[in-house]
Amino acid sequence: MRRPIVIANWKMNKTVSEALQFVEECRKGLKEVSLDSVDVILSPPFTALKAVSDTIGRSDNLYLAAQNLFWEEKGAYTGEVSAAMLSDCGCKYVIIGHSERRQHFGETDEGINKKIKRALYGNMKPVFCVGETLQQRDDEQTFKVVGSQVEKGIDGLSEEAISSAIIAYEPVWAIGTGRNATPEQAEEVHGFIRSHLRETYGRSVAETVRILYGGSVTPENIRALIKEPDIDGALVGGASLNADSFVRIVVGAINTKH
Ligand code: 13P
Repeated sequence: MRRPIVIANWKMNKTVSEALQFVEECRKGLKEVSLDSVDVILSPPFTALKAVSDTIGRSDNLYLAAQNLFWEEKGAYTGEVSAAMLSDCGCKYVIIGHSERRQHFGETDEGINKKIKRALYGNMKPVFCVGETLQQRDDEQTFKVVGSQVEKGIDGLSEEAISSAIIAYEPVWAIGTGRNATPEQAEEVHGFIRSHLRETYGRSVAETVRILYGGSVTPENIRALIKEPDIDGALVGGASLNADSFVRIVVGAINTKH
């Protein structure tokens, strides 16, 4: 049984005080909820990582993800952040290759592959994002696009490395649009990604890797999505900005998967 994961990706939102307020509300909301069977991860902007890390205790069962990193170890790369710096701030996870980074910051599959390797080398689990645009879906290119993103992103990873990675399928047309993929549409692509992993790494590795869905996830649709056999959790944007709706998504995920 793969352990479900729910990640709050705040993107470029929340100051330090807003982030701390969220943690406080989230902690209250999850007080009666056992997080033994789910990984709940917050992904604040870089500026709030340390403060959030300092406030979450071991007993909260909350983990931290960064939203990006750079693939070089250190040096003259103004504006970039290294794996060691993120680890030092308490990050166990890092989101890599989000479609917003591909779209607005020109990230390529090759660069994403280097970032994934750097994250793993630095003992962080990459949350590797893939997904097609609306045009690509309409042109029936979804499997080709996602297949190629996956193949290039994980190129050269050992069985051990891929086993600790997390893949997030986020169709670009579902991000921030209020139009989520239907559970059937999402499951079809998740199943495809898992079969790709099976062909490359074999059954047992493919069954280990967790594949999350992202794109307009809400407290209302989480249950139907996570009920699907190959959907192991959610990467949540807009609905994760409010502690109450994020808590409801976490609870929905736990109640459905167990
Ligand atoms: P929304 O949940 O706002 O659609 O964003 C999804 C996303 O991009 C998470 O990484």
